[in-house]
Amino acid sequence: MDIILLGAPGAGKGTQAKYLEEHTGMIHVASGDLFRAALRQGTELGMLAKSYMDRGELVPDEVVIRMIIERISQPDCRQGVIFDGFPRTREQARALEVELSAHARRIDHVLYLRVPEDMLLRRIAGRQTCKTCGSTYNMFYFPSKRPDICDECGGRLYQRSDDTMETARHRLEVYFAQTMPLIEYYREQGSLIEIDGRREISQVTRSMIDALNIA
Ligand code: AP5
Repeated sequence: MDIILLGAPGAGKGTQAKYLEEHTGMIHVASGDLFRAALRQGTELGMLAKSYMDRGELVPDEVVIRMIIERISQPDCRQGVIFDGFPRTREQARALEVELSAHARRIDHVLYLRVPEDMLLRRIAGRQTCKTCGSTYNMFYFPSKRPDICDECGGRLYQRSDDTMETARHRLEVYFAQTMPLIEYYREQGSLIEIDGRREISQVTRSMIDALNIA
């Protein structure tokens, strides 16, 4: 099975993908995480992506598409992928369809996490991520036990450079203009499932598992 998690910045895509990955054994492929990993490695791709990410703009389609196709061509992705943050434009959606159909695969479900704007901004503003293991916390909703220290591994927590209020607002504008049209696109294809993303994390996960019929 191949699924897409669609939703605005801060909707909880990364959080839910982690649980779905544990539950299903599918591979979580997050475009933003791939860019941040490339940046940590100091690659050209990472530097290029940073120049867009810091402004809250989308990285050009051809760059993202190439990176994702390369990632899903790896053997671990053969059994199914949870796409997080990709596709974000119609061009990306079409490229993904072409790539999957070349391997007799298709997107089975698109889970659209619906969360109101004020809640999105609060989630983004409060997000902290562990530098070492990538665990995510939220200063407002579920802070780490010790300030700025990861409960899981003791690593340092940091705030993403694109999580400032100004950049977050722009990321939302970009989402409304460029990614929201995909909701209708997938609805018309009959693959869209709407999930109420306002609730507690475990309740959202439960709804997703029920919707996918994979309990
Ligand atoms: P990316 O890394 O994909 O960021 P995003 O889509 O903006 O999504 P976020 O990571 O901000 O949010 P999320 O939905 O994963 O929420 P999370 O689970 O962390 O992209 C970053 C940039 O990379 C883009 O701006 C662009 O420049 C570039 N890029 C990436 N993909 C691209 C593409 N395809 N094309 C072009 N450019 C691309 O949760 C957020 C917070 O809320 C956390 O603190 C979490 O703990 C908390 N939380 C989660 N769920 C709940 C809940 N139910 N209740 C309370 N708190 C919750």
